Amino acid sequence: MDPLLSVRDLSIGFRNGAGGHWWPVRGFDLTVEAGETVALVGESGSGKSLTALALMGLLPRSARVEAAGIRFAGQELTGLPERAKRRLRGRDLAMIFQEPMTSLNPVLTIGRQIAEVLRLHQGLSAKAARAQAIELLDLVRIPEPQRRVDDHPHRLSGGMRQRAMIAMAVACRPKLLIADEPTTALDVTIQAQVLELLDRLRRELSLALLLITHDLGVVAQWADRVVVLYAGRKVEEADAGPLFSDPLHPYTRGLLAASPRMNAGRHYRDGPLDEIPGSIASAAGQAGCPFVPRCPAAVAACAEAMPPLLVPAARRAVACPVAVGLPLPGSPLNSPSAASPEFHP
Ligand SMILES: Nc1ncnc2c1ncn2[C@@H]1O[C@H](COP(=O)(O)OP(=O)(O)O)[C@@H](O)[C@H]1O
Ligand SMILES: [Mg+2]
Repeated sequence: MDPLLSVRDLSIGFRNGAGGHWWPVRGFDLTVEAGETVALVGESGSGKSLTALALMGLLPRSARVEAAGIRFAGQELTGLPERAKRRLRGRDLAMIFQEPMTSLNPVLTIGRQIAEVLRLHQGLSAKAARAQAIELLDLVRIPEPQRRVDDHPHRLSGGMRQRAMIAMAVACRPKLLIADEPTTALDVTIQAQVLELLDRLRRELSLALLLITHDLGVVAQWADRVVVLYAGRKVEEADAGPLFSDPLHPYTRGLLAASPRMNAGRHYRDGPLDEIPGSIASAAGQAGCPFVPRCPAAVAACAEAMPPLLVPAARRAVACPVAVGLPLPGSPLNSPSAASPEFHP
């Protein structure tokens, strides 16, 4: 059977002022199967949000999108007329954001906003839509939904607002829900509750979840599969278990090393990703692998061309020949002393 979503060779570019383009996302492939949770991880600026917005068709006009194909639920999205895309968005394909106020309207009650989605996409009457909005608030465990339905967003706590936004996103039972850093702005207890809610909805509504996060603890606990993005390139992909027990790419290894283990080697405290020496900004203008300026394993050849994704085992891919024991010729580029003590390649 076809995967629910299959993205082939997606690149996203912006004008660079010199008459050309720079490409914050390059040659990106992604598949998501029905009902699974795929985590998209990478530090800030790696192109996660742009990728999500491209899937939703919500990029600004200034963005240039190129793709060999974006297939969703049996339909090719590239070249689809705007009206057809709008129909998909919010119905089969929905997205939630880090900050709920970006999708909630402050001057309308939450009930009215959820009802509007239902009226637009499912043609429900005002009365039926209101009744269903109350059911949705109940589904996302907002207490006293009969009363809360008439509240404006500012009357709700941050966590409850996030739940209201989720209710709106799942109102039409999407097949895929994209959650872009859905809990980053919330405190730890509320974070866990929102993630539990998303996972319960995934099971109860049979939706697939594309979970965008920079928090490896969240990935370890909730993801089936993990895609690691660095400076707009996919550098590694694996099922969550193998990724955490045997990370291959030097960037993934650095990420994990920078997040001290919690229990049983499966859970990682969310640690600042910048514990890998250097910064993602060093990738700008890099011809070969974008991780070269920070990579303890890099040799001259790595800087010349982006290595292809290699497949060292079933359901695994890594864009680094050195990581799979195919050392490239050339002398090391970065001396080991440049790496911090906690970075063990
Ligand atoms: N509208 C835009 N115009 C130009 N550059 C952009 C625009 N939006 C994002 N970018 C750049 O693209 C890169 C990736 O951004 P983003 O997808 O938001 O990263 P992430 O979500 O992984 O933190 C960043 O360097 C960002 O500055
Ligand atoms: Mg982002």
